[in-house]
Amino acid sequence: MSRVTLTQFLIEQQRNENHIPADLRLLIEVVARAVKTISVHVGKGAVAGVLGSAETENVQGEVQKKLDVIANELLLHANEWGGHLAAMASEELEGPSLIPNRYPKGEYLLVFDPLDGSSNIDVNISVGTIFSVLRCPEGVVDPTAEAFLQPGRTQVAAGYAVYGPSTMLVLTVGTGTHGFTLDREFGAWVLTQPDMQIPPDTREFSINASRARLWEAPVARYISELQAGTEGPRGQDFNMRWVASMVADVHRIMTRGGIFLYPLDERNRKNGGHLRLLYEANPMSFLVEQAGGVASTGRERVLDLQPTGLHQRVPVILGSRNEVERVVAYHREAL
Ligand code: F6P
Repeated sequence: MSRVTLTQFLIEQQRNENHIPADLRLLIEVVARAVKTISVHVGKGAVAGVLGSAETENVQGEVQKKLDVIANELLLHANEWGGHLAAMASEELEGPSLIPNRYPKGEYLLVFDPLDGSSNIDVNISVGTIFSVLRCPEGVVDPTAEAFLQPGRTQVAAGYAVYGPSTMLVLTVGTGTHGFTLDREFGAWVLTQPDMQIPPDTREFSINASRARLWEAPVARYISELQAGTEGPRGQDFNMRWVASMVADVHRIMTRGGIFLYPLDERNRKNGGHLRLLYEANPMSFLVEQAGGVASTGRERVLDLQPTGLHQRVPVILGSRNEVERVVAYHREAL
């Protein structure tokens, strides 16, 4: 059987279509290699003593899990020596991590959430890694946080890994969204879902319904119409799924459609929303748009937001085109 590996896919993108320069290819390969190692640690679980809390707090005041710390270190160390990066930023670090002077520097910035959905680790439910690649602004040698504050539409690549029953890497370099599955025996990423397409219509929604009393009117209206099923204005039944790992919920939507909402509500309004713009909302929105879906805050396109901080939070509504557009229309009518 002839299989296209990630390396072959990237070389073809570089060679035939001239979409990516060699150092971006290297960057993606290095991230993919680090992700393989994270997958091994996640997969060993309690046997390797990696579950549970690290008893430290990250910059957002969240208690770090051991695997948050391990995954963060793996990504930092894997990416510092290759010469492809100018700096990195992570959910787990307050400010940018600069490339040590003993290594050459490159023209890209890498932003990541090393282990997304980490509240699920200890209960053996899928978690993931999310990353985004930006160009370092010209003339900037030692990038500060400001260099990273670029709208999501300027991303040159984005992806996520999902550590589920199989480990998958879903990637875009701006030429569609492509899914690779890790062949654990050979250690290779195999292209298994080329050109993923999110169906425009869906009967599945994803939201943390325990926050219903806090929602704004347009979201409350939309969800109540779905819940009314065949007897309601939509005239059909909708199903609900909430894993509480963004990577797993988005991956389901990438695969069979759906709508994911973590909207602005009364409680998260003071923070601007729940999900982080630079390493959750932006990369996921790039991947979703490249797969024919839509990603909005309810008020505007996620990828058009001008970031104001490395750890800024925003509302996110993404997935199947016709459903997201309906929620956006409800916002427009109400607000
Ligand atoms: O931001 C991290 C995250 O764990 C996402 O992966 C997930 O979608 C969401 O938060 C879960 O939120 P909640 O705890 O409200 O279910």
